[in-house]
Amino acid sequence: MSVIELSDIVKRYQSGEGLIEALKGIDFRAERGEMVTVIGPSGSGKSTMLNLIGLLDTPTEGSVRLDDRDVTDFSVDELTEERRTGIGFVFQDYHLLPMLTATENVELPSMWDTSVDRRDRAVDLLGRVGLGDRLDHTPGELSGGQKQRVAIARSLINEPDILLADEPTGNLDQDTGETILEELIRLKEDENVAIVAVTHDDQMLDYTDTTVRIIDGVIQEVTRG
Ligand SMILES: Nc1ncnc2c1ncn2[C@@H]1O[C@H](COP(=O)(O)OP(=O)(O)O)[C@@H](O)[C@H]1O
Ligand SMILES: [Mg+2]
Repeated sequence: MSVIELSDIVKRYQSGEGLIEALKGIDFRAERGEMVTVIGPSGSGKSTMLNLIGLLDTPTEGSVRLDDRDVTDFSVDELTEERRTGIGFVFQDYHLLPMLTATENVELPSMWDTSVDRRDRAVDLLGRVGLGDRLDHTPGELSGGQKQRVAIARSLINEPDILLADEPTGNLDQDTGETILEELIRLKEDENVAIVAVTHDDQMLDYTDTTVRIIDGVIQEVTRG
């Protein structure tokens, strides 16, 4: 069973120049323990697709299933709840809060949950991404690769089923990018999450299980294994 499945997705945007069809009938799925990389040129619809998978936006046509439940017609509140409990996000520019320490940044998405010891889990996750000695550093005191590791730890704090990454290595040099990709692969296996990453970085294709090529809102090719 796929943890996320998009069927026949069309996404149109109304803009100044008229109606833009960003996605033109897309099918997509990902399994737990699988890393899927969506690759395509700028403007091809990658971020639009990731936003739909992340329940940050809704399709114009088609359906979205999460763990075999149809969430297409969920309300904004219901989608927020699904997102909070099931989906972790990693962004190109990290999106860390500059005033908070690494530990506090990692804890932040779990503030609503009083049932677990958030501090312990944040410290554990930071240790697992190699930042056990940087717990009290603020983002300004960390390198790009370290900031992305904090963001990865944060994305896992609520034990998601899906981790979404938009250009996760986009701001990193090649060596640091490779380390981050190796980290993602290891966590994917340890946590049994599905990773969906979008990129235009060919380097990522060496790490991925499945490659989805998108051009002009249409999936051209899916390569598995
Ligand atoms: N909020 C929006 N309003 C209008 N057009 C948009 C919006 N978001 C994206 N688009 C358009 O949809 C197409 C796909 O964009 P996007 O998904 O961001 O591509 P990519 O991430 O592959 O660069 C582009 O033509 C873009 O200009
Ligand atoms: Mg994009």
